[in-house]
Amino acid sequence: MGCGPGRHSVELARRGCYPTGVDISERFIEIATRAIADEGLPGEFHVLDAWFMEFESTADQAICLSEGAVGLAGSDAAHQQILDNVFAALRSGGYFVLSAIQTSNAVQDPAVAEAFDAYTRTMQEDEVIVDSDGQER
Ligand SMILES: C[S@@+](CC[C@H](N)C(=O)[O-])C[C@H]1O[C@@H](n2cnc3c(N)ncnc32)[C@H](O)[C@@H]1O
Repeated sequence: MGCGPGRHSVELARRGCYPTGVDISERFIEIATRAIADEGLPGEFHVLDAWFMEFESTADQAICLSEGAVGLAGSDAAHQQILDNVFAALRSGGYFVLSAIQTSNAVQDPAVAEAFDAYTRTMQEDEVIVDSDGQER
């Protein structure tokens, strides 16, 4: 979930898994799809908001690493819905592996500390994204 350009999914496919990657970014899904096609690996990737994910008991395991949707959804309710969707996607006994930023660790960075709201334990970041054509957004 929130697989990005397939950093982990492609490696898992190389190791014999069948990854089903979902990400809200069309461009990342394009890159991940091309990566497994180029190597002839198994797997599939879908442009999908984790909030609307509707897999039903089809996944042996689920992973969400480096804030792939969890941590980015903006509210407790949205995060709960995403976690419910993961639970629904898992077969009985399946594991969910989730990595999360430890906030007290993160705020040691002065740039983060300034943007960090201790009450909601959230921060807002503004980033400039440069696409492959050099266009900034
Ligand atoms: C920091 S990146 C991590 C990507 C990947 N897990 C990795 O470790 O390389 C966070 C990813 O989550 C995706 N994402 C954020 N919100 C999402 C959502 N609601 N549903 C699906 N993907 C989402 C972003 O598009 C981005 O690819």
